[in-house]
Amino acid sequence: MKILKEQFESIAQKFGTPLYVYHAEKINEQYQKLVTAFSILDTQFFYACKALTNINILRYIKELGCNVDCSSINEVKLAILAGFEPQRILYTSNGIAFSEIEEAAEIGVHINIDSLSNLEKFGKKYGHSYPVGIRIRPNILAGGNLKISTGHDGSKFGIPINQLDKIEEIVSSTNLLIRSLHIHTGSDIKDPSVFVKGMEVLFELIPHFPELEVIDLGGGFKVPYKPEEKETDVILLAQKIKETFNKHLIAGNKKFQVWFEPGKFLVSECGFLLTKVTVLKNAGDIIFAAVDSGFNHLIRPMMYDAYHHIENISNPTGELKVYTITGNICETDTFAADRALNEIREGDTLVFYNAGAYGFEMSSNYNARFKPAEIIIKEGTASLIRKRDTWDDLLKGQIGVL
Ligand SMILES: Cc1ncc(COP(=O)(O)O)c(C=O)c1O
Repeated sequence: MKILKEQFESIAQKFGTPLYVYHAEKINEQYQKLVTAFSILDTQFFYACKALTNINILRYIKELGCNVDCSSINEVKLAILAGFEPQRILYTSNGIAFSEIEEAAEIGVHINIDSLSNLEKFGKKYGHSYPVGIRIRPNILAGGNLKISTGHDGSKFGIPINQLDKIEEIVSSTNLLIRSLHIHTGSDIKDPSVFVKGMEVLFELIPHFPELEVIDLGGGFKVPYKPEEKETDVILLAQKIKETFNKHLIAGNKKFQVWFEPGKFLVSECGFLLTKVTVLKNAGDIIFAAVDSGFNHLIRPMMYDAYHHIENISNPTGELKVYTITGNICETDTFAADRALNEIREGDTLVFYNAGAYGFEMSSNYNARFKPAEIIIKEGTASLIRKRDTWDDLLKGQIGVL
């Protein structure tokens, strides 16, 4: 990691800023942690590619042996393009037209259905011929904050657990083959007991689906955003899950495969956003440092109140001073308020940590600004994997009729 940091200034000079930088080996390190921890269970991992879909990242993750989880048909098509075979692709749909599910079924990927309406349509069309998964809303409140909580009793995701009778009606009337039950309670979950709680909910359902083979516990493992934070202890989590299975196996005497859909855990820490300080403004109580980026490039602080660690790599031994770091768009776009950083001068390079997951992927051209370039560092070599937008990208698709 130290070598990587030393490369940042030269990379910023060579490729310009703002710039997304991904460290391939860090993704591998995270994946190996999961594989090692869960070797005590029959487990499959599906990378939740909504976090970062650059085709190079997808290819790299495929080469590691990981599968992929998609949340749109276009993500499914990107995964195919990256070389994933359909049986290594999971499509967890929500709120979509049935035609998109039909398209996914034509490709032959695993499908999780999250509404009674689509479940019924699926049953009528495919009956017992296409094994399918059901996304259950377990009514569990978990996750870093409400915006990233997806399993609670007010959430749009999944079929509420209390509608089990309706699920059963559809399954029996259309002779559906339910192969998996899925939950995803939220993101940023450190406490293993949340996953155990989710399993307990699913275990109640197991007797209702005799052809079940897979328990899909979704993603949501925590990563450290602040230097003092710790990630989810995946070794402990694996043990807890095994214990829970053992407890229930005694009663059910059936073996299940466990699926996980990690997004952040695989790619958050591999990514950095490199920016340049454009303006320093001493406004009395507050010193604002504006950078050549904004929430059009990294929306997490404004959208989720997310903390991103920031370093001034141009002045690492400078005196610590308190700054509010903002962007350059015409909107309040605070990246960090009252943050102690080594003294900042205009032109300095600030590095934002944990920018791999939901960073570039959620970026936009708001204020008609260009999206940043992306590069990957693998075996010490930095390669461009997406060009910075140009003027043509802003006009792409527009039709001048007036
Ligand atoms: C269905 C599903 N699976 C997996 C994930 C990945 O979550 P995370 O990036 O927190 O691991 C998400 C993210 O919201 C999701 O909606």
